[in-house]
Formats: sequence, C-alpha cells, structure tokens
Amino acid sequence: MEVADAVEARRARRVLSERSIEPDRVDALIRSVRLSASCFNNQPWRLVFCSGGESLGAVRAALAKGNAWATRAPLIIVVCARAPDDCQLSDGRDYFLFDCGLAIGQMELQATSLGLVAHPIAGYDPAKVKRALGVPDDHVVITLVICGYPGTDDSLLSDKQREAERERPDRKAVGENVFSDRWGQAHT
Ligand SMILES: Cc1cc2nc3c(=O)[nH]c(=O)nc-3n(C[C@H](O)[C@H](O)[C@H](O)COP(=O)(O)O)c2cc1C
Repeated sequence: MEVADAVEARRARRVLSERSIEPDRVDALIRSVRLSASCFNNQPWRLVFCSGGESLGAVRAALAKGNAWATRAPLIIVVCARAPDDCQLSDGRDYFLFDCGLAIGQMELQATSLGLVAHPIAGYDPAKVKRALGVPDDHVVITLVICGYPGTDDSLLSDKQREAERERPDRKAVGENVFSDRWGQAHT
C-alpha cells in the first residue's frame, strides 16, 4: 500500500474482530515504531504489548465505560514515557510526548497497510494500568493503542460511535488551523 493510500484509509475504527494478530505482523508494528524519528534519537517510548490473558484482562478492566468496544481487541499496546528520557530544552520544550506521537502515528499507518486497526485512546484509568503491569511511577501512560482486525459486530458501540464508524468525523476547515505567511491568515 502506498503511504498516501494508508493516510486516506487509516481510521480510528471501533468494530473489531477477536481474531489474533500473527506474530510477523506484530513484529512489523514494532519495527515501524523502532524506525521512527525522535529528538537526538532518544527513542523515549516504552511499550508493553498485552495479548496474554492476564495482562490483557487487567488492561481491559481499566478501560473507561465509553471504550467497552475495545474489550474485543486481541492486542492492546500500552505506551509509556517520561520527560527525562528525551530532549528537554530550556524554554520548556519537552519532546517526549511529541516523539511518542510520531512513533505511534507511524505505527498506525503500518497497521493500516497490514489490514489492521490501531486506535489510540485516552479513556482509561492510568493508575490501574500502571499497577497491573508494573509501570514505574515516574512514567506517564500516554495512550493505549487498541489493535485488531476489523470486525462486523457493532453491538458494543454507542449510537455516536456507530455514526463515526460509518463516516470519518469532520475536520476543521483548512484556514482555521493552517495559516499562510502570518498567524491567523487562513491558508487557501
Ligand atoms: C490521543 C487520542 C485519544 C483518543 N481517545 C479515544 C478514546 O478514549 N475513545 C475512542 O473511542 N476514541 C478515541 N480517540 C479516537 C478519536 O476520537 C478519533 O481519532 C477522531 O475522532 C478522528 O477520527 P478518525 O481517526 O477515524 O479520523 C482518540 C484519539 C487520539 C489521537
């Protein structure tokens, strides 16, 4: 799949199959993260792949109610990091979250090209996740990436989620957040 096609095809889908993900595909996801750019090549991400009964069960139990759809996923990737593991510039620019976002964005495209869904979420109890997996206190659990093959049963979705499944949620108009030459000057 061309990168441009993966960019168009990627969606935060919520209807997942319980089919497990083949090890070579999991390896391809890991490689896409490892090759991602990061400030000074610091690679601040720490990922816990949960696909075994006990860890997966514990992470599922930490999901917010609105993320019940994610309980079908055969793989949940717990993304952790801490600021001192990446560039920290004197004017307050901490790059650890940015670099984790880059790596996960790249992984989302890789997943899409493999026919997989890789859907990052913020709705979970991070303290529960940290306790269950032994994540050190000084790390932030930035996101859980819900991974699986697309499914057909949408019974775990709310009406709003069903609507988002059918159609990509709207984006802001380009001129609202992309400017030409000067802040606020809408790009056309
Ligand atoms: C940091 C982050 C947190 C998100 N948290 C959730 C979440 O808790 N539950 C959920 O269903 N979707 C979550 N999403 C998915 C977004 O709602 C989705 O990406 C957005 O609506 C755009 O839809 P699209 O990715 O299909 O284009 C999250 C996405 C990101 C990047």
